[in-house]
Amino acid sequence: MLKTDQTIAASPPPGAAADWTIPQKWEAYGASEHATWDKLFARQTAMLPGRVVPAFLEGVALAGLDRPGIPNFEELSERLMKATGWQVLAVPGLVPEDVFFDHLAHRRFVAGSFIRRPDQLDYLQEPDVFHDVFGHVPLLAHPIFADYMQAYGQGGLRALEKGAIDRLARLYWYTVEFGLIRDGDGCKLYGAGIVSSYGESIFALDDPSPNRIGFDLKRVMRTRYRIDDYQQNYFVIDSFDDLLRQTIETDFAPLYREIAEQPDYEPGEIAPGDVVLTPGTQAYARQKAGQ
Ligand code: PHE
Ligand code: FE
Repeated sequence: MLKTDQTIAASPPPGAAADWTIPQKWEAYGASEHATWDKLFARQTAMLPGRVVPAFLEGVALAGLDRPGIPNFEELSERLMKATGWQVLAVPGLVPEDVFFDHLAHRRFVAGSFIRRPDQLDYLQEPDVFHDVFGHVPLLAHPIFADYMQAYGQGGLRALEKGAIDRLARLYWYTVEFGLIRDGDGCKLYGAGIVSSYGESIFALDDPSPNRIGFDLKRVMRTRYRIDDYQQNYFVIDSFDDLLRQTIETDFAPLYREIAEQPDYEPGEIAPGDVVLTPGTQAYARQKAGQ
């Protein structure tokens, strides 16, 4: 889990390794915790077919997530390792950026091991095991997306040196967490923040409020985002190949310098040059803002 928050402690908490990982303690989950996972899993997998990119559902099966209960990270890692060389490791909560990027750069995805309370099925501030594993792991079984995540980690380490973390974090937000992907004339979901949320899985595709805009690297890196509610803009990639090509083959250093001189875009704004696939009414955001 990534959070660009400078209040995170600089050294790992007691009981955690130097790289911030902890044992998942899978045996310690109670029946009600497994039941919460099962409930969330059943609700998402009933709704997602036809909405999510097919590779996601293939990844669910490949990673063995379609068995009851909170996944055991060791078993999960064994399956993922065979597919794409990724592992899943537990961490106590948010980790510092350099630690997070270093794990990604080495094909290690760090996940929260706690699960939300039964009264928090629909909304949660901090990512739990359902978000981290159900949301992120299926696409880590996809070869191209797996490469993208590793490249992102390497790019993160470079961005830290260049003081450009805020810009790079926006790329993560609008792809890995809240990305949409083109499917013929329409779109499908792939972002982990969307697919692990019942409400946003419907909102992001069906609601008339948000703008759906063709993905553009510089544009995305200039766009602020909201962490407190559904997104006002979603960015639509053509394909995972195209996303990887655009990011891996571009040196971000000159982009960071160029963008530093330019103003940011607001979350619901349409920018000059945008390819707007579906213009939004922003009715939802306006209503929430009490206007
Ligand atoms: N090419 C980027 C850089 O020069 C690294 C990167 C790759 C970032 C893929 C994100 C995703 O920093
Ligand atoms: Fe996430």
